[in-house]
Parts: sequence; structure tokens; C-alpha cells
Amino acid sequence: MKETILKCRICGAVTEVIVECQCYEGFVCCGQSMQEEIPQTADQTKEKHVPVGEVVSKWETKVTVGSTLHPMTEEHRILWIEMIDGSMRVRKYLEAGERPEAVFPIAFKPGVILREYCNVHGLWVYEHKE
Ligand SMILES: [Fe+2]
Repeated sequence: MKETILKCRICGAVTEVIVECQCYEGFVCCGQSMQEEIPQTADQTKEKHVPVGEVVSKWETKVTVGSTLHPMTEEHRILWIEMIDGSMRVRKYLEAGERPEAVFPIAFKPGVILREYCNVHGLWVYEHKE
């Protein structure tokens, strides 16, 4: 299954598609087709949007956005952080003023995927390979 994150370039609405639309226009907001948010990635040490995983215990992982903490103001913040392990996906939604971090009941092991969504800079991903 491939979930797609869509954003309206006019009003900023964000939605997640679980099952793709087969109609010609796709999902429409403000009279225009919503645009897919393409997952971005970069060097964790240089880009503050890339989620950073840290072992808490054998079965828990702390995820922080990012190596330098991302702002959490109403205007510019992380909306959610999630951790994906195969078909299991756990997401924490965040509010302005909170720290951009979450602890998930999933081991930090090779193959897990960390994602976060910034309301200004979009979708960011890190796949743990070591
Ligand atoms: Fe951002």
C-alpha cells in the first residue's frame, strides 16, 4: 500500500490518500487538483527537517526533528512524526509549542522508516539502513 500526501497550493489544506482516485481530475481543492508531496531526504547532520532516530530500549525508538530542533511555532511547525515498520505505522500529531519529538513502540532496526511533515517545507523521510 502506498499512501500519498496531497497539498492544496492555494489554501494549504493537506490530505492523505489511502486508496488512489481513478477519476480524471484526481482530488480537487480550491478548484484545482491537489499536488502530491514528494518525500524529501538529505544529510541528517545538515538538514533540520530529516527525522533522527535514537534507541530508547530494545522495543522503543525516540524520533527527533531534526539534529537541530525544528521550530514549532503556529506559522512553521512539524504537524506529525511517524515511524513505519513494514505494514505497521505509528504517527504522533504535534501542536505549536511542543518539542518536535516522539517515542514509538518500535525497535530502531534496519528497514524502519521515519517520516515527518512540516507545514511549510513538506514531507521528509529517513530510511534506517545500518
Ligand atoms: Fe520547516
